Amino acid sequence: MSDQEIDKGRRQFLITLSSIMGTVGLGFAAVPFLSAWAPSAKTQAAGAPVEVDVSKIPVGGMTVVQWRGKPVWIIHRDSDMLKTLTEQNDKLRDPECKVDQQPEYVEIPDRSIKPEFMVLIGICTHLGCSPTFRPKAGSVDPSWLGGFYCPCHGSKFDFSGRVFRGVPAPINLAVPPYRYLSDNIIQIGVNSKKS
Ligand code: FES
Repeated sequence: MSDQEIDKGRRQFLITLSSIMGTVGLGFAAVPFLSAWAPSAKTQAAGAPVEVDVSKIPVGGMTVVQWRGKPVWIIHRDSDMLKTLTEQNDKLRDPECKVDQQPEYVEIPDRSIKPEFMVLIGICTHLGCSPTFRPKAGSVDPSWLGGFYCPCHGSKFDFSGRVFRGVPAPINLAVPPYRYLSDNIIQIGVNSKKS
């Protein structure tokens, strides 16, 4: 083999080697970018529907779960709480729930699929504080029949999350999409079929 042929063979070997190294390097470099583009499991979980066993909530009590980074309340309303829903319409800003703050398949004034279980996003419609659950009559003012009170600027809501007149919150609390998977399990984040 001549010197010229040996040089040619070596040059071809070096070209092939650098081509392989370049491809491998690109592969390693691409992995972090692809990982950054793919939504993390945590991000996916944050937007996922949430299931709640409502049989564990005592009558008259409530539980709070997180859905899409927001607090969602599930209140197990007793018969006295439900009775108040028709007793103070004249004091509410939007008793018929004309503002679109609930899915179309909930009943009014219950704003729920089953009257005894109220599902609400626990964020005040004024400036976003989380109101407090005040079920006891008279615990906010002498005429108070129970509901939710936002201590930030004094907004008041009834047991269906409907806002009272004369407070800073402009509209009712929001009802998230939800459905029943069985008698006791609700899934927050997925719409129910209208019955
Ligand atoms: S944030 Fe609730 S009253 Fe202002």
